[in-house]
Amino acid sequence: MEKKELIERINKLKKEKNAVILAHIYQRPEIYNVADFIGDSYGLSKKATETDAEIIVFCGVDFMAESAYILNPDKTVLIPTRLANCPMAAMVDVEGLRKLKAQCHNAAVVSYVNTTADVKAESDICCTSANAAKVVNSLEEDEIIFVPDSNLAHYVMRHTDKKIIPWNGWCYVHNKFSPEGLIRAKAMHLAAKVLVHPECIPEVVDLADEVFSTTGMVNYVKQSPDKTFIIATEIGVIERLKLEFPEKVFFQAPPGGTCLQMKKTTLALVLDALEKEQFKVTVPENIRVRAKKALDKMLNVD
Ligand code: 13P
Ligand code: SF4
Repeated sequence: MEKKELIERINKLKKEKNAVILAHIYQRPEIYNVADFIGDSYGLSKKATETDAEIIVFCGVDFMAESAYILNPDKTVLIPTRLANCPMAAMVDVEGLRKLKAQCHNAAVVSYVNTTADVKAESDICCTSANAAKVVNSLEEDEIIFVPDSNLAHYVMRHTDKKIIPWNGWCYVHNKFSPEGLIRAKAMHLAAKVLVHPECIPEVVDLADEVFSTTGMVNYVKQSPDKTFIIATEIGVIERLKLEFPEKVFFQAPPGGTCLQMKKTTLALVLDALEKEQFKVTVPENIRVRAKKALDKMLNVD
C-alpha cells in the first residue's frame, strides 16, 4: 500500500475508533504523519494521563506502552509490534533490585521510566531524562538506588549532594558516542552548539554545551539564535530537528546511533494495530497499582 493511502486509512480508523497515537521522537519520520503527539518519555507519560480517547496506540518501545496502561487501565493500549523492546529496561530485574535494597535499606529507589512494570512497582518513584535530578532532590532520603542507567545516575550525581548508588545498566545507542569523536566534530564545526543526552557517558557529557532530554533539545533549538548544532542522541531527534528547523544545520555526534527497537514500528503495522486492535498491553493489577504510585509520584514532582 502507498504511504498516502496508509496515512488516510489510519486517520480514518483513528476517528471511527476514538483512538489517539502517541509517538516517541525516535520513531521513523513516517510515523510523525499520523501521530497526535510526538514527545520524550516524560511528555508521553503526561499525555497518557490527559487523553480521553478510548484506544491509545503507542509508537515507541515496550516500557512506554506499559506506562500508558499503568496510568490508564480502563483504556485499550496497543503496541504495533511486540519486537519494540528497550534492551536497557531489561537490564534490571526485581530479584536483583530486592537484593540491593536489602543491602542499602536506608536508600530510596528511583527507577528511570526505562524499566519494566514490576521494577517500577518495587520503586519509590520514577524519573525520566527530563526530570531525574529534580526527582532525586525531591526525596527525603540521603541515599538513592538509581536504576538502570548508570550514565544517567552519574549525570544526576553532578546535580545533587545525595549519595547515588547506580545500577550497571546502559543504553547501547548512547553509550557509543565517544569523546574523541565529539572533539573531532567540534574542531570541524567551531561555531556549533553541542547538545548531549544524559544517557551518554560522563566523558561525553563533559564536552556538552547543554544536556537535555530529547524534547529538551528540540525546545532549546527553537529558542536558540545559533544556527549549527552537534547532537549526541539517537538519529530520530536529528531527523525531527531537520524537519522542524530547515534553516538550521544539524550533525549527529560520531559514530552516530540508531535505536533499532524504536524503528521496528512502521505505518503498515500501525494500520494493522488499529484494524485488529493488536497487540494489547496489560499489566497484572497487583503490579500496576504499585507501579502507578511510583509514576504518579514523579508526575506530581513538577
Ligand atoms: P527521553 O525521551 O526521555 O529523552 O529518553 C530517550 C530514550 O532513550 C527513551 O528510550
Ligand atoms: Fe532503550 Fe536506548 Fe532505544 Fe531508548 S534509545 S529505547 S534507552 S535502547
